[in-house]
Amino acid sequence: MIDSSKYSLADFYDIPDMDMMERAEMFYEYFEDIYNKHHCHFRRVSLNGSSPVMQVLDPYSGQTREMIYLASNDYLNLTRHPKTIEAGKKALEKYGVGAGSVPLLGGTLDLHVALEKKVAAFKGCESAIVYTSGFGSNAGSIAALLRQNDVAILDILDHASIIDGCKETSVEYFRHNNMRSLEKVLQKCKDKYRTKLVIVDGVYSMDGDISKLDEIVALAHHYGAYVMVDEAHATGVIGENGRGTPEHFNLEGKVDIVAGTFSKALGVVGGFVAGKKEIIEYLHYYARSYMFSTAQTPQAAASLIAGMEVIETEPHLRSKLWDNIHYFKKHLLALGFNIGNSETAIFPIIIGDDFKVREMCRELHEANIYVNAVQYPAVSRKLSRIRMSLMYNHTREQLDSVLELLEHLSKKYDIQCAKNKNTAGIA
Ligand SMILES: Cc1ncc(COP(=O)(O)O)c(C=O)c1O
Repeated sequence: MIDSSKYSLADFYDIPDMDMMERAEMFYEYFEDIYNKHHCHFRRVSLNGSSPVMQVLDPYSGQTREMIYLASNDYLNLTRHPKTIEAGKKALEKYGVGAGSVPLLGGTLDLHVALEKKVAAFKGCESAIVYTSGFGSNAGSIAALLRQNDVAILDILDHASIIDGCKETSVEYFRHNNMRSLEKVLQKCKDKYRTKLVIVDGVYSMDGDISKLDEIVALAHHYGAYVMVDEAHATGVIGENGRGTPEHFNLEGKVDIVAGTFSKALGVVGGFVAGKKEIIEYLHYYARSYMFSTAQTPQAAASLIAGMEVIETEPHLRSKLWDNIHYFKKHLLALGFNIGNSETAIFPIIIGDDFKVREMCRELHEANIYVNAVQYPAVSRKLSRIRMSLMYNHTREQLDSVLELLEHLSKKYDIQCAKNKNTAGIA
């Protein structure tokens, strides 16, 4: 039997001389050991959907647990807003459960066109295209735009969907949010490639920090490069009106391509790209994840339009989220935790020891607190962490009980409470 503490997911990516079945069998043994140690924090089953208190089927006892849920991207809990639900229900009744075809060949509903218009207006862009998944939106759009003689210039912490979109083009990386490093790469690429596209996340999903988009746009444009920003965790959260990173930096209309997902603050599923009408029209015919994939469900499209209207008309949801963010951050810092450069609703507690992370997450699970364990190879071993995210409707009592247990665990596991350091990007 494999001792899982001696392995990580990286060890099963490829094993010399083992075929896929043998490799999967060995991985299965590893996984069974993780499970037996109660260290498996993945795929816990929710019985009531996303909400600050989640009913979770305990994978070990089979009992239902009422857990404080700190792992959602549903920051404004729009998954359950009466207006998103009502809009979805009406669309279901009118259009049925599916769009029936791919968008180019009969699957485009008037609802999809309305959604595209809404996204474009919401993001202050000329036009927009919508996809059935955020991952497919990034991967498919980038692959459609960049060819062999082009280059994608990526922050090293960019999301996997961006990296996967670059398989057919050249790629250069710069250090996380580091403008000197970006400038060096831009200089190196200056006369070497036709298209140069700098791609960054607006808010980084594992660290919760905000990209320096103002400096990035200025530098990139100076060197003749375009900029694309992935607004997955920024939409609905940052910017005075929740319109995201360009709004936060007063850059609306100045970022060449604004992409994002519908699955985080908007609470549904899917992705989008917004920008100049020529780029969007091109994507209709060259983004394979758009052309060869059935259109968004009518319910999703209708709920998304309603969700953007809620963001526009109910700013108190965002204010309450920010009250929670400020409160939680203040207390985590007071307890001495290293939360990297977190500035938004995503909070890493950087521990730097995979085993401690797993044990702490086990104890949190047993105390009915649902957090995520982020370990090697998702981050380097030095940066393994507990990752938490907040919703606007977490109560103070819920946050206090989480903080109380974290304080206890910090002592029990002797967590280095060194001064909060800038560790983001060392991965
Ligand atoms: C930054 C970022 N981009 C893209 C995606 C992919 O989005 P989706 O989950 O909607 O497919 C995610 C989600 O994990 C993300 O965090």
